[in-house]
Amino acid sequence: MNHDAWRDFPGAPGAGARICRAVDVPVSGVASHDLDGFPVLLVASAEGVRAYVNACPHQYLPLDWRSGNILSADGATLRCSNHDAGFDACTGQGLDGLGQGCALDPVPVHIAGDWLVIG
Ligand code: FES
Repeated sequence: MNHDAWRDFPGAPGAGARICRAVDVPVSGVASHDLDGFPVLLVASAEGVRAYVNACPHQYLPLDWRSGNILSADGATLRCSNHDAGFDACTGQGLDGLGQGCALDPVPVHIAGDWLVIG
């Protein structure tokens, strides 16, 4: 997995770009954010919050385009709402269906003061 692939997307922001307030980081499910055209999906995975470019590698559609209900109840699996590709919510690796052999592109994030930021 290329951990810098997110930088290749159009409009990829620089380190320190704010995604959302820390209090708004999801504790269950997912949250989509658009950073001036750069789509970020926050995921309350079984191992804590993860961030991915919200572009499914199958057709580069947002995973939650048809439905926001894309995270399994145990926080382990993301299921693209478009054509059902399955991904490991903690790593982004494809698990099944059209997700096999590909992966989501992780975005590094951390809390800085009151904000969740890139980097
Ligand atoms: S766009 Fe995600 S499975 Fe087709």
